[in-house]
Amino acid sequence: MLVLGIESSCDETAVALVRDGREVVYSKVSSQIAQHAPFGGVIPEIAAREHLRVIAPMFAQMRAETGFGPRDIDLVAVTQGPGLVGALLVGVSFAKGLSLATGVPLQPVDHVHAHVHGALLGMPAIADRDLYPMLSLVVSGGHTNLYFNRSPVEFELLAHSIDDACGECFDKVGKLLGLPFPGGPQIEKRAADGGNSSVIQMPRMVGARARMEFSYSGLKTFVANLIAKESRPIPPERLADICAAFQDEALDQLARKLSAALAMRPETKRIVIAGGVAANRRFRDIVAARCSAPVHFPDLAYCSDNAAMIAALGHHEFEARGRKSSPPESWDVYSRYPFELHRGRLPSA
Ligand code: KG4
Ligand code: ZN
Repeated sequence: MLVLGIESSCDETAVALVRDGREVVYSKVSSQIAQHAPFGGVIPEIAAREHLRVIAPMFAQMRAETGFGPRDIDLVAVTQGPGLVGALLVGVSFAKGLSLATGVPLQPVDHVHAHVHGALLGMPAIADRDLYPMLSLVVSGGHTNLYFNRSPVEFELLAHSIDDACGECFDKVGKLLGLPFPGGPQIEKRAADGGNSSVIQMPRMVGARARMEFSYSGLKTFVANLIAKESRPIPPERLADICAAFQDEALDQLARKLSAALAMRPETKRIVIAGGVAANRRFRDIVAARCSAPVHFPDLAYCSDNAAMIAALGHHEFEARGRKSSPPESWDVYSRYPFELHRGRLPSA
């Protein structure tokens, strides 16, 4: 089955073709980072207009480069949410139009769940019985979600952030330090430049609490207060130490909760890390130090937003629904992750 994936939830427009949920035939991402960088964050209206500008040419380019057209495609999978409403509407309207015009079935996909399949795309093929049950952690600019997965389409939310997302915290701290957007890769670079994390004691957010939840706003406030007392400009060695100490605590919080989840679900066969923050090299050592189960970090190509992950999850969802299309008139975009649905269901460690 050849699936076309379409992604437009935030600041990346992406199209991809994935065969049988695993083999990436084509994947292109058009990033808007340069357009948003002067503002230090994503501006929703600019994002929506930019998606609209590039989506049709990107589809045409995919056809020209691969020779595959609507007649070869078995399913159109598109990000339904969560994301910016105006941005989502561009991809969803394009996908609905394509499906209506060609009769190709349509499958809406959850962007955050799809990140987990993006991580799996980078792995050597592995039988489902050796993969599930699995723990998956999506750490991106908008989400810090820890799931227990019994199958490719079952996502039991074990923990989420009660305030800022982990990547968002990296971005905000980066901004406070005067680093270019996005802050995550910049902080990693500065920390790797001789930074010593033990020089500064960072507060341990939710570390001692039994509840399965993440929290990042306290850590951000601590760094903001710390920076306010520093001499300006901050000397490069001091900047490296601040970045290293912040980075280690931000990542260690994730590793502590992963380890707690492993204790709750000892039947776990694998841990899969996904989302933009998974690109961080230091994260690998920190998780390895705390978790005993095999941990998989994704190929860097599929860490950040892309459409191959949308096509991969779309494939599994469509199969799980008995290959029934979701007619365009039957669904809409959603812009907020429905935490309310899960709030009452968060288990304790
Ligand atoms: O998954 P993603 O590309 O987009 C969504 O948010 O959906 O994640 C982007 C986030 C940003 O917050 C960025 O700062 C963070 O991932 N990030 C990193 C690194 N590379 C990207 N955070 C820490 N270290 C990195 N190397
Ligand atoms: Zn994402």
